[in-house]
Formats: sequence, C-alpha cells, structure tokens
Amino acid sequence: MIPDNAVRVEAYCSTANLGAGFDVFGLALNKYADRARVRITNTGIVRIKALGPYSRELPRAPTKNSAGPPARALLDRSGLNTGVEITIEKNIPPGLGLGSSGATAAACTKAMNHLLQLDLSNNELVRTASLGEAAASGFAHPDNVGASLLGGFVICYGNPLRTVCVKPPAKLSIVVVSPKTRLPKNKTGLARKLVPQKIGVRQAVLNIGHASAIALGFANGDIDLIGSGMEDAIAEPYRESLVPGYRAMKKAALANHASGVAISGAGPSVVAFVDKTKQDPKKIARVMVRELSKNNVEATFFVTSPAGGARIIRSS
Ligand code: HSE
Repeated sequence: MIPDNAVRVEAYCSTANLGAGFDVFGLALNKYADRARVRITNTGIVRIKALGPYSRELPRAPTKNSAGPPARALLDRSGLNTGVEITIEKNIPPGLGLGSSGATAAACTKAMNHLLQLDLSNNELVRTASLGEAAASGFAHPDNVGASLLGGFVICYGNPLRTVCVKPPAKLSIVVVSPKTRLPKNKTGLARKLVPQKIGVRQAVLNIGHASAIALGFANGDIDLIGSGMEDAIAEPYRESLVPGYRAMKKAALANHASGVAISGAGPSVVAFVDKTKQDPKKIARVMVRELSKNNVEATFFVTSPAGGARIIRSS
C-alpha cells in the first residue's frame, strides 16, 4: 500500500572534495536548498517540471536532469507499475561548484524512498542519488549527493559505496567566494577531464595524509586539523586555471588565519574554513574578494555554516 500520493523534500547545497577528498568528501552548506515535490502518477513514466529562480535552463528530459535516473531506478526497483511527476523548485545556483545537481538528485531520491516505502539504507540512498550526477556531468560521483542527503560532513568510500557522516564542529564557518567567470557548458564534465587518470605514489601519499587529517579533524572537532588537510595533489593542480586568482586568494586567506582553503567541487567557487570563535569570517571573505579585484576579477561571497540532511517538508 502506498500511504502518500505526493511528498515534498528539501535538500541543501554542498561543497565537495575539501581539497584532499576528491570524489570522497562532502559538506552540506546551510545557504541554498532545492525542493522536489514528487507525485505518484499512473503513467508509468518520469515527468519533470521545474520552477524557481534557476529553473529556466534546467533540462526537463529525465535522462538529462539529475532527478531522472534516480527516479527511474527506484520505480524499477519498486516493481510497481506507476510513474512519477517531479516538480523541482530550483533555488541553488547551478555552475558555481555548490552541488546544485546533487541536491536535486538527493531531494528526489529521498522523496521516492518515502513514497514507494523502499526503506533504503543511507548507502543505498547515496548510490542511487549519484546516478543523477552521471546525467548532469557524465560521472556518478557521490560526494555532493552524500552531503545533501545525509547532512554534515560525509565520507563516501569503497566499492560497493559506503558512507559515514559526522556532525561538524559548531564553531565552523565556511566562507564561499564565487569569482564571476565565463562558465563553459558542462563545466563539471570538463573539469573532470582535466584530472589525470593516473597519479604517482608521491601524490597518493600526500592525499592519504591530508585526507586523514580532515577526517580526524571532523571527528575531533578540530578546525585547524581539518584546514591543514585541505591540500590536494590529484585534482586542484590541474583545475586551478579554471579559478581566476586561486593561488593568490588562498595565500591571502591563509595569511589572515583561515584554517584551510580549497576549490569547491569543480569550482569556480572557493571555500575557506574558519573557526568563527577565533577569526572573523567576513574579514577573510573581504580579503579574498580584494585579492581577486587586484586582477580585475569580480566576485560575490557569503558566509555560512554546515547544514543538516535532506528532509521531508510535506506529505501529499
Ligand atoms: N568531486 C566532484 C568533482 C564534485 O570534483 O568533480 C563536483 O561538484
């Protein structure tokens, strides 16, 4: 028996990688949230509608929208001969490296799990939602969907994929600076192609060390330890050309006592992690924006905190 005919779920944006955790680490951010209203239909198909400030360019085809593949996979899994109509309220700006497609996929997956009474584990939810990322960028990376679904700091690892989530320290502030830069179509897909398929042992060792520091930093609530791990030898060196003024911004933020700085996901936004009981995050944001303006690059910024996971906001 299906208890509700429709449900609405909200899922927050996120930052992925955090430097050393390429495709592994994600952190939900309490700034923008997408909503997905999913309604059971008797059509047998997935239909996608969109509204909200960033809905205009959102693909509606179920194979191209990040809500489509998770919805199809869960309908097939349910064995029921039903369809769904998904209405996405698109509030997260796409193309900034804030997990916009991931949040949509997360909201839709959580809604479908509820409606179809599938009782999926966290691991299964994240695996399913990551199918949506393949539609958006060509690869089913789990880090953004993991953060948007489960909230807080999330580690997505292994094959088959497993997840762990940790509540971040309450004093953690995240500064997000978004340089205004011309974005190529399929920006994430292109940024992924820049990452080499093979890396040396030296790079692997560096990333294992840095990633371990980040994970332990979250477990212990130690923001300086987290920040010390926000270095990357796998993706950032090949992607930083996509983020105007990245090195200068990072240097300036660290000189002003940010704990760590990294490209947010595939960029172009940059995140600085700050212990707000010790430093003023807005001051660090202004320093970063000023550094960019020296090279005539305009930027916007916001300061936020970690967010919780996707949640049902209304049934039927
Ligand atoms: N881990 C992904 C990447 C995140 O860096 O390509 C994309 O938002």
